[in-house]
Amino acid sequence: MSTDRLVLGIETSCDETGVALVRLTDEGSELLVDVVASSMDEHARFGGIIPEIASRAHLEAMVPTLSTTLERAGVTLADVDAVAVTAGPGLVGPLTVGAAAAKALAIGIDKPLFGVNHVIGHAVVDELVHGPFPERVMSLVVSGGHSSLLLIDDTVNVTELGSTLDDAAGEAFDKVGRLLGLPYPGGPHIDRLAREGNPRAIRFPRGLTAAKDQADHAADFSFSGLKTAVARWVEARQDAGEEIPLADVSASFAEAVADVLTAKTIAACRAHGVGTLVVGGGFSANSQLRDMAAARCEEAGIELRIPPIRYCTDNGAMIAALGAAVLRRGMAPSNLDLPVDSSMPLTQVLV
Ligand code: KG4
Ligand code: ZN
Repeated sequence: MSTDRLVLGIETSCDETGVALVRLTDEGSELLVDVVASSMDEHARFGGIIPEIASRAHLEAMVPTLSTTLERAGVTLADVDAVAVTAGPGLVGPLTVGAAAAKALAIGIDKPLFGVNHVIGHAVVDELVHGPFPERVMSLVVSGGHSSLLLIDDTVNVTELGSTLDDAAGEAFDKVGRLLGLPYPGGPHIDRLAREGNPRAIRFPRGLTAAKDQADHAADFSFSGLKTAVARWVEARQDAGEEIPLADVSASFAEAVADVLTAKTIAACRAHGVGTLVVGGGFSANSQLRDMAAARCEEAGIELRIPPIRYCTDNGAMIAALGAAVLRRGMAPSNLDLPVDSSMPLTQVLV
């Protein structure tokens, strides 16, 4: 008899309603279907995510997204063996909509419910692409809300080595995008412009890389000083009536971010003797980061695992993948009252 189990994953921590089905087998986890509906178009004109609009959009998208997922997989709810949902971190309203849906489903089909950590999901989604993690991996999770270095043992035991002290990498890109007059979110626009520019045109600061920062902040990041440096540089040119070389500013800024992220991550791999690096989160779509991480990992003899871009941005597959990982390890399910936690600690895989 087959011992395969079907895990439904639900993600609603920000503006994406993601639902996915993962099959857990003896060999590992396999993605069956992954459906994402985004409300980003409704937020773009406000220059940021409006939580109330996102919550309402999740409410509207939940049932159609769920139905499409089941239909595409050719299964019914009765076939589902466990429900995983993002419990945090994220926006309280959006998280609550996903949690309510997941609770109702778990109760309705009388199957276990797992409230899991979104940020850890950004790393563990890679198991669907590149297979089970080795015993210990280093993970750099970079998104609009997080820039964190995690040491992960047996996929579900997480030690937080460091994080950003101010802006996340994606947030810094979005803020610099705004000051360059680019549409929201600025990240992908800066990425595109940067590919045409000279990354060495302007030397922007590399936060927390000085020798004096090594003792207390070896694995922490800081991007607000860099963002301010870009703002000052741009203002000075504007005051002088000069045109802003958008491609060179973007390339030099992107280079500074990628340089700091990769240098500190590889130093952490060396310090902890870890041979595999998993990069995840919406910002890992960034081409400058991907290129620099590939080159530097090769040089350092570190195996680099980055999922394809569609699994880097928010989706249900990452939540189903983490749900499958905790299910495989026999961890106790969450209570059905499942409290969402907007600032869920990154060391906590499950509520
Ligand atoms: O993980 P994600 O989809 O949502 C959060 O949990 O934050 O990440 C979105 C962030 C945004 O800040 C967006 O601008 C950034 O990732 N981003 C990028 C790129 N694609 C997405 N930043 C730079 N280059 C990109 N190609
Ligand atoms: Zn995310």
